Amino acid sequence: MLAGGRRLDTPFGAFYPPNITPDPEHGIGRWEFGDFVRAMREGKGPDGTIYFPAFPYPSYTGMSDADLSDLWVYLKKVPPVAAPAPGHDLNFPFNIRALVWPWRWLYFNAGEKPVDAARPEPWRRGAYLVRAVAHCGECHTPRNFLGGPENGRELAGNPNGPDGKRIPDITPNEKNGIGAWTVGDIESYLEMGILPDGDFAGGAMVEVIENSTSKMTPEDRKAVATYIKSVPASGRPDVVREKCRRLIALAVLDGLGVACFS
Ligand code: HEC
Repeated sequence: MLAGGRRLDTPFGAFYPPNITPDPEHGIGRWEFGDFVRAMREGKGPDGTIYFPAFPYPSYTGMSDADLSDLWVYLKKVPPVAAPAPGHDLNFPFNIRALVWPWRWLYFNAGEKPVDAARPEPWRRGAYLVRAVAHCGECHTPRNFLGGPENGRELAGNPNGPDGKRIPDITPNEKNGIGAWTVGDIESYLEMGILPDGDFAGGAMVEVIENSTSKMTPEDRKAVATYIKSVPASGRPDVVREKCRRLIALAVLDGLGVACFS
């Protein structure tokens, strides 16, 4: 368990998450608590290496001090596995780690995010779980061509998600999303993987349900479902605006290229 190596295919290549058991050589056995907090909050290794955001630190950065500390206590007790995980197999130019710096500048916002104080519980708990701990948006929020999350379209689905699969829209959109699902339907799905029509969950969601949401307390599942029911229903993706953004970005990159090579 937690020895890494679960291949994650993305448009940028294949990522192999590392061994995070307490093995001193192949895992994180030599890390201090501060190293762990830095990895989760800042996306940096003990030696300052920046992590690819396939490690969902842009979500984990929002975890509370108390939860990070509990998680650290738990990870220290996992049986160590003395085996390395394979290295990433990324396409050029995404294998250049330095490119993560501009990505971070554009898309990474370190630290806990304020939760709307006017909202009642369990919404607030749900927002925290969905956005930070359970990182639902890492798969369900659409991404632009640079792999940056389109935060104005939270949970609106990703046609090209991890493992090369289409990730469904889980906003309350009646047609494309899960607007017809009740809070109870979402709770049962997260607990047992059964859809309202009696079908079963598939793909990467099976792992999410097995390893994460089925292990949540019923109160936490209700909080997640309550929050999901409250996000804005997705609209039609604004294709024209996205095309304009791409053209501008290409023009800027082109300009930079000319500046660098002339
Ligand atoms: C690793 C990627 C990943 C993460 C993280 C993830 N999901 Fe999913 N989710 C999927 C995939 C893939 C499917 C499609 C499953 C299928 O084909 O049956 C899915 C399906 C769903 C569905 C059913 C939608 C439908 O129309 O059938 C719901 C609801 C859902 N996810 C909620 C969540 C919630 C809540 C979280 C966070 C706790 C979450 N997901 C995190 C990948 C993910």
